[in-house]
Amino acid sequence: MTEKKFNRFTVTAALPYANGPVHIGHLAGVYVPADIYVRYLRCLGRDVAFIGGSDEHGVAITLKARKEGKTPQQIVDRYHEIIKKSFTSFGISFDIYSRTSSPKHHEMASAYFDKLYKNGVFEEKESWNFYDEKADQFLADRYIKGTCPVCSFSEAYGDQCEHCGSTLSPNELIHPKSMLSGEEPIMKATKHWYFPLDKYENFLREYILQDHTEWKPNVSGQCKSWLDGGLRARPMTRDLGWGIKVPIKGATGKVLYVWFDAPIGYISATQEWAAAKGKNWEDYWKKEDTKLVHFIGKDNIVFHCIIFPSILQAEGSYILPDNVPANEFLNLEGNKISTSRNWAVWLHEYLEDFPDKQDVLRYVLTANAPETKDNDFTWKDFQTRNNSELVAIYGNFVNRAVVLTHKFFKGEVPERQNLQKIDKDTLEALSTFPDRIASALERFKFREALNHLMDLARLGNKYLAETEPWKLIKTDLERVSTILNVSLQMVTSLGLLSKPFLPNTYHKLSRILNFGDLKWQDAGRSDNLKKTTVLGPALLLFEKIEDDVIEAQIKKLMDTKDENQETAVQIYPIKEKINYDDFMKMDLRVGEILTAEPVPKSNKLLKFTVDTGLDQRTIVSGVAKYFSPQEMVGKKVTVLLNLAPRKIMGIISQGMLLFAENEDGSLKSVAPDTNATNGAGIS
Ligand code: MF3
Ligand code: ZN
Repeated sequence: MTEKKFNRFTVTAALPYANGPVHIGHLAGVYVPADIYVRYLRCLGRDVAFIGGSDEHGVAITLKARKEGKTPQQIVDRYHEIIKKSFTSFGISFDIYSRTSSPKHHEMASAYFDKLYKNGVFEEKESWNFYDEKADQFLADRYIKGTCPVCSFSEAYGDQCEHCGSTLSPNELIHPKSMLSGEEPIMKATKHWYFPLDKYENFLREYILQDHTEWKPNVSGQCKSWLDGGLRARPMTRDLGWGIKVPIKGATGKVLYVWFDAPIGYISATQEWAAAKGKNWEDYWKKEDTKLVHFIGKDNIVFHCIIFPSILQAEGSYILPDNVPANEFLNLEGNKISTSRNWAVWLHEYLEDFPDKQDVLRYVLTANAPETKDNDFTWKDFQTRNNSELVAIYGNFVNRAVVLTHKFFKGEVPERQNLQKIDKDTLEALSTFPDRIASALERFKFREALNHLMDLARLGNKYLAETEPWKLIKTDLERVSTILNVSLQMVTSLGLLSKPFLPNTYHKLSRILNFGDLKWQDAGRSDNLKKTTVLGPALLLFEKIEDDVIEAQIKKLMDTKDENQETAVQIYPIKEKINYDDFMKMDLRVGEILTAEPVPKSNKLLKFTVDTGLDQRTIVSGVAKYFSPQEMVGKKVTVLLNLAPRKIMGIISQGMLLFAENEDGSLKSVAPDTNATNGAGIS
């Protein structure tokens, strides 16, 4: 059970960047576990502040704005609304969902920085940085592109190569280019304010390695390797036009580093919430009996476990994070989730496609949560967990108990008499569930907790299967009465214990069983339902999800894949130099289209039979949006013959048809002259 020393909880969930909507990776890693934890604390009647908001500064946002021809403010306004709305309708129960572009936050973060500055915390250092003379601006790492020194990919970013995954620094790039002007940047001196992390090593070692041995191994492991690797001073300011202005003379054109201001966003959001509720925010940030917990993804560990605690310590009046239960990553159908490549299941789209199925997604993401290692979300697994767990185990148990009670006792909770061994054993087992679930939740083991919950439903099904009340109805009504009483007590506890995990299901069960007055603490008892209780009608808790629904989701992802392949041309304008031999490796020929037909379940692809002069072969091509099958038949085409065969939507495609792609992505023919013979080489 929760340690007695804490009287208050401040629970934060990483502030998502407002440069895109929220996806299932965010939910599984951060928001669903945070919400379960908070709802659990509220079940216990604890004093909790659940803090969230949008992270609206940083280079990622300015890049997105550039790409869309908008201002950063327009970008964050748009995504803040989308994110906030989707969290609300999904049921993430924040006490406040704020944002870091708010004047209140600017004021708070700026004052915080100023206080550290006046206390002489920062070191002022000049360094050489990339500068775009034409644009008259220093360049963030992400604003520089060049050739990757590791894999020679020509479009690597200054901080990372997205092709081979190497972490880079901009001066490692071969032929660096500014993304603002396209020119090669020069080096120019610039002044920044550094936070001397190295001076906090002893403090951090004690705080993390001695005082918090209970942290998850993936978290303390990462911390330890940072500590062992040696800490260095880190600049807390940036040369950027978007963010919180550095409140120091001689710092024009500079803003606070986004990772300085964003965690302070937790504090300013708490202030905003407390002001509205007539509470004292300082109770939630400065009192030793407050437990501060940060829910984050693994890429945020260093910021929340090393940098932010040091920044809090430097100020001096704040408590430190008591736990940071970071998760690993969730992949999607075997690939890394990516906002820029649109490889994601977006929360707002899920809510549209699956209205009223919030609990299903909460369930699947918890059952499959990346708690100790990266995990994979697949639509098939989503379907299986819904159909064979929520419907077949949970829903089935509840439904049988409720329907039988309606059928044989007009919905009145029947009495219990003469308990047999199986009844006693079952009730005894029932009493152990609340502690098992609570203990797992206190240890941030959400999968384990959910598993226990499902074990209770499994126990219920087993009990019904063994006692078979439906067979006794003619011969032994008293026995049936006892069995259903025991079953309904189990359903009640199942409902009460579901509250943090499956809030909508809890509400439905509370309507069926009228247990609104019961509390989490009542779960596990065998006398919750009195004889006077009359059940409400059996509501549908979960329903089977059919194959076509799942296939439609998979198809949506496949279309994204096609699109990514199509747009690849636009993203990479000039390719690397190649020599003549490279060119001659391609076997380009004149071909002629014999048949053309759409590929089922795809609105991008057409399947062609092509006469290559040498053979007739199948080639699948993503041109359906621009050409009808009819108009293609009989056309001459340029074919790349020796491209390795690829399987596309189950069809082996042998080669590639060449088209011109306009800037808007539309395709045009580059057909050979109609007099060219099929099979003629092109060079
Ligand atoms: N926006 C960051 C991310 O998505 C998380 C910020 S968490 C906070 O990785 F601490 F800065 F608030
Ligand atoms: Zn690379």
